[in-house]
Amino acid sequence: MGIDPKAIDWDSLGFNLTETRSMYKAVCKREGSWSTGGLIPFGNIELSPAAGVLNYGQGVFEGMKAYRTIKNRIVIFRPDMNAKRISMSSQRLCMPAMDKDLFLRAVLATVKDNLDYIPPNGKGSLYLRPVVWGTAPVLGVKPVDEYTFIVYASPVGPYFKGDIKPLNLLVTNDYHRAAPKGIGNVKAIGNYSASLLPLIKAKNEGYDEVIYLNAGDEELIEEAGAANMFIIKDNVLKTPKLAGSILPGVTRDSVLTLAREILEIDVQETDVTLNEVCTADEVFCTGTAVVVTPVGKIASDNKEYIINGEKIGKITNELRSLLIGIQREEREDTFNWLQSVD
Ligand code: PLP
Ligand code: COI
Repeated sequence: MGIDPKAIDWDSLGFNLTETRSMYKAVCKREGSWSTGGLIPFGNIELSPAAGVLNYGQGVFEGMKAYRTIKNRIVIFRPDMNAKRISMSSQRLCMPAMDKDLFLRAVLATVKDNLDYIPPNGKGSLYLRPVVWGTAPVLGVKPVDEYTFIVYASPVGPYFKGDIKPLNLLVTNDYHRAAPKGIGNVKAIGNYSASLLPLIKAKNEGYDEVIYLNAGDEELIEEAGAANMFIIKDNVLKTPKLAGSILPGVTRDSVLTLAREILEIDVQETDVTLNEVCTADEVFCTGTAVVVTPVGKIASDNKEYIINGEKIGKITNELRSLLIGIQREEREDTFNWLQSVD
């Protein structure tokens, strides 16, 4: 049912679930189209133990944010991109494509009904979590006959404690996140279950996150467990190209645009070797949850590489400020990225 929003301490928000008033729910029969759906109180849902999502991982999700801006408006950042990606993810797992209008209507309705859970400007955002799950029962391995779409929300603060304190990342040689032609390029729930063990092991050794290498020859970096990676060397911005095993991040796309169009620096979507990362001038990760977070130290093969004296780099800082500036409406929304909730 949601906690009383007046009881929330906006200054101590981290990236944890705070239950809000309501969530949006719609269903789709395999052969049919999505129901209109509507808002219901946030709460448990009932599922068969044989549900497709519980047994064979037929589930995808999205992550997006609504902000209270400096103009005291409520905006959502690039929801059309998430609508497109959830459709792509769904189709990869033999689930019905999401109807774009339904997706946007559900997200807007969820935000509008939970306005009092949106943190004050500069103190965080309302994280939105759209999910699609195969909810009908099944025994043999096959797509199920009914799917459920839910959008729930939670006020959040920074993903990593300390917000822009440069991260300490561990390159793993023990695990791959994804393989070419697998499901690494979609937001399938199974990708995240596979990332838990490497993440927990890294955290136990004092690292914040894991950097995954390509499953082929382990020479190239792919991405972190929940974020895309960027490096800067001699004023050139590089990020791994979208070759099928990394997630096409909305923040990645936004940072590439800002670098090209506003900073006017050389931008390359290409192969990025592990050696290039360890010797880069600046390294940072991007994502809805992590925004733009600098990397200060990378451990690989029992060696540690310090990046930019463990301080946030100049270009990283510029890109972070540009992105946050647009999201908070402190800067003009030149690229029409904000969807107003009024
Ligand atoms: N890569 C992975 C594996 C992620 O989970 C995320 C987070 O959504 C990202 C990259 C960044 O994507 P986005 O910027 O769309 O949030
Ligand atoms: C996001 O950045 O929205 C993510 O989905 C990353 C993580 C919280 C799973």
